[in-house]
Amino acid sequence: MKILVVADENEMSVEASRLIGALVRTKPNAVLGLPTGSTPLGTYRELIRMCYEENLDFSRIHTINLDEYVGLSGDHPQSYRAFMKNNFFDHINIDQSNTHVPNGLAENVEEECRRYDDLLRHYGCTDLQLIGIGQNGHIAFNEPADAFTPETHLVTLTESTINANQRFFDNREEVPRTAISMGMRGIMSTKHLILIASGEGKADAVAKSCFGPVTPEVPGSLIQLHPCVTVIVDEAAMSLSGFY
Ligand code: F6R
Repeated sequence: MKILVVADENEMSVEASRLIGALVRTKPNAVLGLPTGSTPLGTYRELIRMCYEENLDFSRIHTINLDEYVGLSGDHPQSYRAFMKNNFFDHINIDQSNTHVPNGLAENVEEECRRYDDLLRHYGCTDLQLIGIGQNGHIAFNEPADAFTPETHLVTLTESTINANQRFFDNREEVPRTAISMGMRGIMSTKHLILIASGEGKADAVAKSCFGPVTPEVPGSLIQLHPCVTVIVDEAAMSLSGFY
C-alpha cells in the first residue's frame, strides 16, 4: 500500500487527477471505476480542467460507477447518475453511452444487480477504481457487516449513512433507504485502487482501513489485501493513523 499524505483536500484532488490523467493518456480506452460524494468533486473539477486546457481525451474512455439509490430515476437531481452528469460527464468529451451507473428504477433489483456484474465481467475489470470512504468505513454502499458481499447487491443504508447523505436532500425523509451497490469483488478486482479522503471526520475510518485488522466490520480494511493500492489523504484524515 502506498500512502500519500498531502496538505489539504485541494492537493488530494490534484494528486488523484494526476494519476487518473496519466492512465487516460497512456490507455485512451481505459475503464474507470468512479464514486460519487463530496470527496471526488475536486478530482472531477481538475480532470475537467485537464480536458479543456491540456487536451485530456475521454472520447474512448468507459466508466462504471459504484452505486445508485433505489427509487430515483437518472433524472432525479439527487440520483448518482445526475451527480455524475452534472459534475463530470457533461463537461468532458466522453461518449455518455460508455458511462454506466446502476438503474435505480429497475423493476427487478436482483436482475439489475446481475446485469451490473455481467457488465463488469464484460469489461474484465476496471483499470483504475477511485473510491471515497464513509465515516463508518463503508466503501460504495458496502456497509459494516458480518461478512463481505462480493457481488453487486441491494443494500439497506445504515442510520450513519442516511445521516451523512441527508445534506444533499431537503429533509431526512427524502433520503432513499436502499441502494444498489457494487460488491467488494468488483471493487477489489481493479488493477489500481485509489482511495481518497480528507478531513478529520474520515480519520478514524482511514486509520482502521489502512492499519487495523481486515474485517467486514470495517469494509475499507479489505483494501489492505489489494496488490496495487494508493491512498491519498490530507493530514487531517491521517491524524489518527499514528495510534495504530
Ligand atoms: C459513493 C460512495 C460512497 C462515498 C462515501 C464518502 O459513490 O461510494 O462510499 O465514497 O460515502 O462520501 P463523501 O465523499 O461524500 O464523504
